[in-house]
Amino acid sequence: MYQLSQLVALAATLSTAMGAYQGFNYGSSFTNGAAKQQPDFEAEFRTAQGLVGAPAGGFTSARLYTMIQGGTVNAPISAIPAAIATRTSLLLGLWASAGDAAFTNELQALSSAIQQYGTALGRLVAGISVGSEDLYRISPTGIENKENPGAAPLTIAHYIKQVRDIIAHTALDGVPVGHVDTWTAWVNSSNQVVVDASDFLGFDGYPYFQKTQQNDIGHSKSLFDDALSATKAASQGKPVWITETGFPLSGKTMGQAVPSIANAKYYWDQVGCPLFGSTNVWWYTMQDSAPATPNPSFGLIGSTLTTTPLFDLSCNSSKLSQTTSSSISLASGVSITLSQSEISTVSSATTFLAPVSSLASNGTMTVASLPSGTSTAASSGKASSIKGSMGDAIAVVMLAMALFGP
Ligand SMILES: *[C@@H]1O[C@H](CO)[C@@H](O)[C@H](O)[C@H]1NC(C)=O
Ligand SMILES: *[C@@H]1O[C@H](CO)[C@@H](O)[C@H](O)[C@H]1NC(C)=O
Ligand SMILES: *[C@@H]1O[C@H](CO)[C@@H](O)[C@H](O)[C@H]1NC(C)=O
Repeated sequence: MYQLSQLVALAATLSTAMGAYQGFNYGSSFTNGAAKQQPDFEAEFRTAQGLVGAPAGGFTSARLYTMIQGGTVNAPISAIPAAIATRTSLLLGLWASAGDAAFTNELQALSSAIQQYGTALGRLVAGISVGSEDLYRISPTGIENKENPGAAPLTIAHYIKQVRDIIAHTALDGVPVGHVDTWTAWVNSSNQVVVDASDFLGFDGYPYFQKTQQNDIGHSKSLFDDALSATKAASQGKPVWITETGFPLSGKTMGQAVPSIANAKYYWDQVGCPLFGSTNVWWYTMQDSAPATPNPSFGLIGSTLTTTPLFDLSCNSSKLSQTTSSSISLASGVSITLSQSEISTVSSATTFLAPVSSLASNGTMTVASLPSGTSTAASSGKASSIKGSMGDAIAVVMLAMALFGP
């Protein structure tokens, strides 16, 4: 007899040990256009690391959009020394939508940063994104939203090559180089050359903006999952990193999507919580409203820097599985008993048992999508001999072992 709470605790302990990047996106300027300086970045990074109730591992990574410090031509962005001072890992970014001359300045800032910070920087770099939503901006939707100019696929592929040449034989040698774009750009086969050129695909997806579809909050999770699956299908097996997603806490209604703190928390629990710790995620975002609040606004903490978020980030409410009875009999004869308080906090089987695709009422558990490196896969039932190699999969496999007995 196993108490579900013990298994949840076990799963949580194991999840802590895994190594996915978890962080936010950071612009180079405030909403009034003032350039962020090193102390500003340091304050933001420390706030992210100190967020009250954050899930295991905390938010210790930063995605940047440009290598260039605001107010300079091509000096390295001061987020770099701030990241070194706070031990914040970095998904570096080069802005690629402003033409070749501007991109040359991005490359110069990258070179200078490598020269100036060397291995202190190399240790922190999760990857380098060449561009951000440049392909979206030249698509019909991007043009309709007046977000032109962007950059063409061949241009991005060429820029990626230039970045690879610059980092070769430096402290950044071997760092993954890729591109960030909306999922709609990744699934567009006209952009294939960028997939070919990339080590990873940075996925930006916002069900909130998918106004031509049924995008009320109840459908947000399935819209996100569909977009991610479609991107993975187009990725040629390359890693897909979540580089932007989130749901606005305030602002205008988009289709059927209504911004609110409650809906932002729902989206966090449904979409974020299952990803944290197992997939690289740079959420959008901790703060987007200093000093003025944009419409819509996605920031978790409002316009004042504070470690107290506007909703509970803990993922506690998405951790337990839904059940209609207080006891589940297992096929193997082992049973787990849920206390009344556990039942009341339960929300969704698919989130708690992330890679477990189903848990029938008779206790038959189906294990799905085990990661590569898993030595023995079992598709259903007894899962005693599976050894996982990462993340939630290990936790779930351990859970399966506990449920079904060794
Ligand atoms: C597909 O990608 C190409 C090249 O980036 C672009 O010109 C075209 O508009 C895109 N189509 C759609 C439907 O987004
Ligand atoms: C979430 O659960 C953990 C472990 O049970 C607990 O320590 C923490 O206080 C909870 N956080 C919130 C915000 O409820
Ligand atoms: C348990 O339920 C599943 C799904 O309904 C079914 O496929 C399986 O045969 C059942 N197992 C037993 C031992 O009854």
